[in-house]
Amino acid sequence: MPTLPAWPYPRTIAHRGAGRLAPENTLAAFRLGAAHGYRAFEFDVKLSRDGHSFLLHDDTLERTSNGHGPADALTLAELQRLDAGAWHSPAYAGETMPALATIAAYTRANDFCVNVEIKPMPGREAETGHAVARDVRRLWQGTRIPPLLSSFSEEALATAAQTAPALPRALLLDHLPEDWPARLRRLGCIALDANHDCLDADIIACAHANSFRVLCYTPNDPVRVKTLFSWGIDSVITDEVGLISPV
Ligand code: G3P
Ligand code: MG
Repeated sequence: MPTLPAWPYPRTIAHRGAGRLAPENTLAAFRLGAAHGYRAFEFDVKLSRDGHSFLLHDDTLERTSNGHGPADALTLAELQRLDAGAWHSPAYAGETMPALATIAAYTRANDFCVNVEIKPMPGREAETGHAVARDVRRLWQGTRIPPLLSSFSEEALATAAQTAPALPRALLLDHLPEDWPARLRRLGCIALDANHDCLDADIIACAHANSFRVLCYTPNDPVRVKTLFSWGIDSVITDEVGLISPV
């Protein structure tokens, strides 16, 4: 049996804080995920115009805030003046886009685990990989369980690996190219983080045989999650924090 890398992460991870029940990637979402018993959180991080790491999924501001245009056209201070909650529901009006430092303080105070998805603006892959890895290393220094870095951008992950080689990494893949094990190996990843639709028992077994852990996004059906666990998946990242009991 090959030796698998240590896997200290909970088997259930809340996607973007609390999935769709609260405005994604806000502190309110993390608090709601935590209220449902979740102790691990995935979230998306990119850089503001002035180079600060902050939480946002999209490249543009329209869908999840009252701002407009490219997310990195504004400084962190300008981004934090936007309303990132009213789009979701009136109860969340006034939520703000958190700086990475805010989420570090919150998750550290509660001893929660994190999966930091590096989500660069187009053209800023290497810069974002470097800056986010540097910030994560500093902000989570000395924590019992290190943050897991992940990205769809191999360039960002490669740069993160140079900046903070000790931080564990996972490559995000929406579909599995034939050479996925070689790609993971090249980036020094400990895990494959795949769209759950492209996984089956054989792929998970193959990953484990290659000494990779496996996590997946974003199974939201409890039956599907049960199947993934029966196949030996290491962790699932889900939106359905109310339906899928934390493990
Ligand atoms: O990190 C897993 C998942 O969040 C990747 O997809 O688009 O929801 O960031 P996305
Ligand atoms: Mg994400």
